[in-house]
Amino acid sequence: MNKKIALIGGTGPEGKGLAKRLAITGNQIFIGSRKQERGKEIAEELTNELNEYPQICIKGGDNREMAELSEIIIIVVPYSAHKNTLMQIENELEGKIVIDAVVPMEFQKGPRSIEVEAGSATEEAAQILENSTVIGAFHNLSAEILMDLKKDVIGDVLITGNNKEAKQEVSSLAEEIGSIRAVDAGPLRNSKHVENLTVLLIGINGRYKAHSSIIITDIN
Ligand SMILES: NC(=O)c1ccc[n+]([C@@H]2O[C@H](COP(=O)([O-])OP(=O)(O)OC[C@H]3O[C@@H](n4cnc5c(N)ncnc54)[C@H](OP(=O)(O)O)[C@@H]3O)[C@@H](O)[C@H]2O)c1
Repeated sequence: MNKKIALIGGTGPEGKGLAKRLAITGNQIFIGSRKQERGKEIAEELTNELNEYPQICIKGGDNREMAELSEIIIIVVPYSAHKNTLMQIENELEGKIVIDAVVPMEFQKGPRSIEVEAGSATEEAAQILENSTVIGAFHNLSAEILMDLKKDVIGDVLITGNNKEAKQEVSSLAEEIGSIRAVDAGPLRNSKHVENLTVLLIGINGRYKAHSSIIITDIN
């Protein structure tokens, strides 16, 4: 694809990992931060890191500016910042596909889910962003694996959403990454199950010293 993709909170590990993977397949990447300088700094860092790939295009700036320049926006801020961040950039997201990858969780003697009134972070985003098409994806992909280009990315990306065309577009984007397969995980109301799987995976990662992912069997 050659899409313009913003990562809101793209200066963290999950955003950087997705940025690298989606940049090397030919997309234009926009790294968003609360601070314009920080966004630019990380964009420069990733561009230098990927210097062996020709035609890499990664720019950085503040979240609002980066959202405005993009056609697909991926939300990768901590859950504690989810609502406020979306409200701040609501206008820039209008009419666009917004992919929510946020897991409502916290660490309290291990990983725990946070109850979300809307049902899930993805549904909360859909409530706030009435004029965008919100899709849930990428929740179960480890940032460590995404960031390490020497490693393949193996697993299924479970896609939730209520708009068939947007889900298809996000599925195609996800399948550009390593050996990823996109799986239709149903409507937005299923997002809480996908988000909560990450809490399980993080616990498993701790016990097995691994970076686990999900694979659904017997579907084609
Ligand atoms: N890490 C993983 O392996 C992984 C896997 C799947 C899903 N996720 C989800 O992806 C999201 C990002 O994960 P991460 O590990 O990259 O998170 P992170 O490093 O904690 O945060 C990402 C970025 O969010 C911004 N941010 C932090 N606090 C903020 C606040 N109060 N208000 C606005 N922006 C704030 C920061 O960017 P600036 O300071 O530059 O603004 C930060 O670099 C999380 O919701 C997580 O659940 C993570």
